Amino acid sequence: MNAITYAEPPESHPEIPLPGGDVTEGVVRVGDTVRRPIGPNAPLVHALLRHLEETGFEGAPRFLGVDAAGREVLTFVPGEVAGRPRPPWLADEERLASVGRLVRAYHEAVAGFVVPDGVRPGLGLDEPPGTPPPPPYPVELVGHMDYTPDNLVFRDGQAAALIDFDIAKPVTRADELVNAMLYWAPLGDPADAEPLLQGVDVPRRCRILADAYGMSETDRSRVVEVAVMRTRRSWFLMRQNAEELGGGWARMWADGVGDRIKRREAWLERHGAGLDAALTAP
Ligand SMILES: Nc1ncnc2c1ncn2[C@@H]1O[C@H](COP(=O)(O)OP(=O)(O)O)[C@@H](O)[C@H]1O
Ligand SMILES: [Mg+2]
Repeated sequence: MNAITYAEPPESHPEIPLPGGDVTEGVVRVGDTVRRPIGPNAPLVHALLRHLEETGFEGAPRFLGVDAAGREVLTFVPGEVAGRPRPPWLADEERLASVGRLVRAYHEAVAGFVVPDGVRPGLGLDEPPGTPPPPPYPVELVGHMDYTPDNLVFRDGQAAALIDFDIAKPVTRADELVNAMLYWAPLGDPADAEPLLQGVDVPRRCRILADAYGMSETDRSRVVEVAVMRTRRSWFLMRQNAEELGGGWARMWADGVGDRIKRREAWLERHGAGLDAALTAP
């Protein structure tokens, strides 16, 4: 990819580390920009960010080029990110609804985006043998697929922007909503939830997300199936990322993410019917 070289402004700024994400090391803020190492999915991400800019979508950083150190340069998005420790508003239902609306706005903006010729979405790995298949529905758009609290910027109490498109790839709308539910409902064994999200009404929160997004009846009826299938797959894919990419992926695996995925699958089997009822009730 022939990314343009970023022209540094005359005044210099210190590099301020931006911790928070689990994966990328060396994310820093420099003035009004963010510098990140260029990952394997960058050709897709850079084209995607350009497309979002052209459509006038305000809910994503702009891609400004590549700096002299070979890092991607993005605009710094001002606002509040739910880092650690988590802010007390994590369970707030108004914020939750705003997440659903932001995902929808992103989908409107990304609708016309086509993966450029020669660009292979993903982290550059072939699927490991034995990986269960993805849900059997045709892809609809290039999804963000990483709606963790660390990847959303809030302003005035509303989700205002998405950051960290590193694992963006062609998926369905239902895949995207399941991903948002995974972190914000959250989907999984309550014992594994963030303390602030323990004891919340998970089906109700899924419904709030679905309503705020404006999810179709067909997609609502697929949520549980998609969640189970994506969960089964993710155990294999996370293990592969840990083994082949190392770094933060390996740390997450050592930290027990594989077991949490298994517990999520079991939880979905137990609670799928209730979740489905909450999502599809008139
Ligand atoms: N463009 C940006 N604007 C504002 N904050 C950002 C931006 N990019 C990253 N950050 C901050 O840095 C943290 C880590 O960056 P991120 O791109 O999410 O890396 P990781 O791949 O490790 O999750 C984010 O959680 C956020 O707080
Ligand atoms: Mg992140």
